[in-house]
Amino acid sequence: MKRRAFLQQASLAAVASYASIPSWAKTPSSSFTRSSTAEQVTAGLNLTGKTAVVTGCNSGIGFETMRVLALRGAHVIGTARTMEKGKAACGQVKGKATPVALELTDFASVVACANAIRAMNVNIDMLILNAGITLADWQQVNGIEKQFVVHHLGHFILTNRVLDRVIAAEQGRVVTVGSGNHRDAPEGGIQFDDLSGRGWHKKAYAHSKLANGLFSLELSQRLRNTRATSNCLSPGPVDTNIRRDLPASAFPPNLKTPAQGAATVCYVAAHPNLKHVTGEYFADCNPAQQSAYQTDRAMAAKLWEVSARLTRPYLI
Ligand SMILES: NC(=O)c1ccc[n+]([C@@H]2O[C@H](COP(=O)([O-])OP(=O)(O)OC[C@H]3O[C@@H](n4cnc5c(N)ncnc54)[C@H](OP(=O)(O)O)[C@@H]3O)[C@@H](O)[C@H]2O)c1
Repeated sequence: MKRRAFLQQASLAAVASYASIPSWAKTPSSSFTRSSTAEQVTAGLNLTGKTAVVTGCNSGIGFETMRVLALRGAHVIGTARTMEKGKAACGQVKGKATPVALELTDFASVVACANAIRAMNVNIDMLILNAGITLADWQQVNGIEKQFVVHHLGHFILTNRVLDRVIAAEQGRVVTVGSGNHRDAPEGGIQFDDLSGRGWHKKAYAHSKLANGLFSLELSQRLRNTRATSNCLSPGPVDTNIRRDLPASAFPPNLKTPAQGAATVCYVAAHPNLKHVTGEYFADCNPAQQSAYQTDRAMAAKLWEVSARLTRPYLI
């Protein structure tokens, strides 16, 4: 074989084998680990002049994320279910933190929250969709399973209503706090034919976290001609209030502290390593494997369409 043809074939083979590597394996990795803390992963970063929105700022991972981003100089707009809770949380933070009320089951509250953020006239460098619940029983909001409403539909409205501010930022990032638990979603993935939870409510937390991952994936597609990115992450099992309604048997050993749980959130939100990374999924501050459902682009696109239909009166 002639030398040029050989080289061409070799480089084509290299391209083909690179293309067959899953995207998570090509995403830059870091030296941070499961035990790294949010302060450690942001050490040396100067976030002065940046604005972050953190939902669920009064507890657990959200509070620690707000605290550390503010410590690094960012202005954090922290949401809580009531203004009182938001004020109390923001008051404990060293740096600039502004409370806004947000009740994700009440879409009028989501609209009011978005309007309050817009009225601050700032670009959003980091939109961190963190607020969440785990329910041991079957609950619904207007006939739709409640965790899907809180984790996905509420955040879907909020994101859509402030997305232009994320796009306008120098390098805006939407960070969705998902879960490794997305792997336990019901057979078939998102239950488009019946979102009530009937027949699958025992897997409803996993279903809603799969929705988080698919939302993040579709958003990355929709942002592809902008500077903004969208990534999802699992904080890992963390010792927070979210476990308050669960039986002790649901507590895995060796839970992370909130400081460790907020590390991947802060890493994905602020670390310069990830400036050009979008549509990915992280755990322990590194790219991570996800289920086939969570990388299903057709399911992600359908979820966006269905969510837009369900929330139409509340979108811009
Ligand atoms: N902890 C873990 O092991 C773990 C594992 C994987 C993923 N995650 C994810 O991490 C995120 C943060 O959870 P966390 O562990 O830090 O729990 P957390 O300490 O219970 O904090 C959850 C936050 O979300 C808020 N929230 C709950 N329901 C809401 C609603 N309807 N509207 C607005 N805000 C609401 C809570 O407000 P209140 O304080 O008023 O209830 C609180 O501020 C969640 O998305 C969760 O799914 C956690």
